[in-house]
This record gives sequence, structure tokens and C-alpha cells, in this order.
Amino acid sequence: MTHRIGVVGASGYGGAELLRLLDAHPVMDAEVVAARSQAGEPIAGLFPNLAGSRTFDEIDVEVLAELDLVVLATPHGAALELGAALYDAGTPVVDLSAAFRLSRDGFRTWYGESHPRPDLAAGDEAAAADVAYGLPELERDRIVGAGLVANPGCYPTATLLGLAPLAPLLTPGTIVVDAKSGTSGAGRAAKDHLHFAHVHGSLTAYGAPGHRHTGEIERWLPGGLGAVSFTPHLVPMSRGLLATCYGTLRDGVGADEVQDALADAYDAEPFVHLLDPGDFPHTKALAGSNGCQLSAVVDPRTGRVTVTSAIDNLGKGAAGQALQNANLILGEDETLGLSAVGVYP
Ligand SMILES: NC(=O)c1ccc[n+]([C@@H]2O[C@H](COP(=O)([O-])OP(=O)(O)OC[C@H]3O[C@@H](n4cnc5c(N)ncnc54)[C@H](OP(=O)(O)O)[C@@H]3O)[C@@H](O)[C@H]2O)c1
Repeated sequence: MTHRIGVVGASGYGGAELLRLLDAHPVMDAEVVAARSQAGEPIAGLFPNLAGSRTFDEIDVEVLAELDLVVLATPHGAALELGAALYDAGTPVVDLSAAFRLSRDGFRTWYGESHPRPDLAAGDEAAAADVAYGLPELERDRIVGAGLVANPGCYPTATLLGLAPLAPLLTPGTIVVDAKSGTSGAGRAAKDHLHFAHVHGSLTAYGAPGHRHTGEIERWLPGGLGAVSFTPHLVPMSRGLLATCYGTLRDGVGADEVQDALADAYDAEPFVHLLDPGDFPHTKALAGSNGCQLSAVVDPRTGRVTVTSAIDNLGKGAAGQALQNANLILGEDETLGLSAVGVYP
């Protein structure tokens, strides 16, 4: 059986990456590829890798509601409306934006507005039983058969995969995350600070303190680890994301416990590859894949662990993970149409 999939925001970087993945998916077809200002325009005009004569569709909720599943790859404001309408119509949704990732209080704190549908806010106690946070390695059981899945942000994905298994070993209030992303993480729209002349040959931090992904990391890190210091950086590459995460280990915890905790969590995971201590992941090795590579080292002088975690921001950080979630929702093998192996060099 072939599943009929809709992609809204198909003219953006996340949506277009999903079109590339769906093109090779054995049991999913991109039946509707909707955009806002680009509706009616040729897809290949924006994305030459998606050659052909197909054009972007209009966003029509009634048409989308007839499909087997819809992926939203729009800003969170549009996703709040479209996600609620499709969920209410009984159409499964995977949303790439932050619209449904937090609790109602978290959403007010980090996005400055009341959540219109706390029952759809995955991080809220009042969330419906078929609403899930879409990090399969942490929340797989809730994602299977879900009605709405909030796909994690790219920075939280790399950070949570690196730190979540270590939560019982860490001292609350000591977590620092220093993360770097390629410029596709900021989307397709032209912005002054993303021009080649600004980005090329330069490296800069932004958004600290108080980048919105901080709230998502704090909400989904298990074990009451408290406030997190998070600083993202923009690096001169198209795609790829590396999170370097630091935390103070509890008394008596050493390198063996750290490596064991990560191995227990990921030995059976198809997309997360634990490297030996001292081998550090490269973002380039994950390009185009749904993989995450990570490793941890412990410094006995400071008592801190350093975990480095690399993903493709458009892969495991966005479209790849959305497809992994779509597979789970629709009862397929979660690896279908996805690979943990990137394009290298
Ligand atoms: N880029 C990443 O690495 C990444 C990673 C994780 C999560 N995300 C999240 O995924 C979502 C999409 O990100 P992106 O990077 O793909 O953005 P993008 O390249 O800027 O694309 C945004 C898309 O949304 C559409 N759109 C914009 N405003 C809309 C509105 N008011 N109503 C309906 N559609 C609208 C655009 O359509 P037109 O172009 O036709 O106007 C475009 O297709 C965002 O919520 C983002 O935070 C992105």
C-alpha cells in the first residue's frame, strides 16, 4: 500500500529536503507539495536537484485533510493553525516548527504568546494521548500511531541525543551547550546576515542568552537538570550541525559509566552511532543522512564530561527525522527511505 503524503512549506529548505527523501521512499508518495508565495511556480526553479515540470500546489486544508499524513514545514504561526485544523479533521500531522513542542507555560515564556491549543502542546500535561514529541530515541512509544508529532528543533535534537542518556550521571545546573550550524538552518529567505560576504570566512555566535531552543532542551532533558546555558553559532557551511555539550559529573562517576550509559542507549538504535572516546564526529560525515554521530570524553581534572554530537540539520534535525516519525505513525519500519550513512567527502 502506498501512503499519500502532503508537504506544506515545500518551497523551504526543510520541505524540499523532504521531497528529495520522499522521491526514494518505497511506500510513500508526495501527493501534495504546497507552498505559500511559491504556489504555481516550478519546483525545479528553486531546487535544481528536484528536476521536472512539477509546480508547487496551493495550501488547501480540505485537500490536505484527505491525505494519509501531512508534514508541515512552515513557520510556527502557520503551523499552529494548519496543525490544529488537520488534527481535528483526523489527519496525522508531523510538524517541523516549534508550534507544538513545549508546554503551554513554556510556549508563553519562549514565544511570548498563549498557546491556542494546550491539548496539542506535546510538552504539556494536558496534551492529548495521541500527541508526541518526535524524538524517537526518547519517545518512540508515543509516536507510534500518533495523531500529531512535534518534530524537535535541530539544536535540541543533537543536544538531547548527546545528553539524555547521561542525565542520571550529571549534576543539575551545570549543563553548557555550545552548538554550531550551517546557514540552511535559518531557512531559504534572504537575510542580510546570511549573505555570502557576511558568512564566508567568518564564525559568530548569536541569540544568547535566551535562544528559544533553550526552553525546548530544558523541557525534554530528563531528570530535572535545571537551567541550561545554550549558545548557537553560525558557521560558513550549507548544512551540518555540531553540539558540544558540557556537564559536571556526580561524585564517583567516571568515563566507564559515561560510555556504558551511551552504549546502553544507542547500541540498538539504527540512526545513532556512538564513537569511541577520543574519536570526534564530523558534520560532513552525516550530510544528507538521518544519522547522528556522537562521542564523550571525561576530564578527570575538572570532573566534567564533554559530549560532541553531529547531525545534518536538514536530516536528523528536520526532514529525515520527520520521515522517521511518519514511518512510525503509519506503522512502517522506521528506517524506510532513510540512511544513517552520509555523503562523504
Ligand atoms: N532549516 C532547518 O534546518 C530546520 C531544522 C529544524 C526545524 N526547522 C523548522 O522547520 C520550519 C521550516 O523551516 P525552513 O528552514 O524550511 O524554512 P524556509 O526555508 O524559510 O521555508 C518556509 C516555508 O514555509 C512557507 N511559509 C512561510 N510563511 C508561511 C505562512 N504564513 N503560511 C504558510 N506557509 C508559509 C514558505 O512558503 P513560500 O516560500 O512559498 O512563501 C516556505 O515553503 C520552521 O518552522 C523551522 O523552524 C528548520
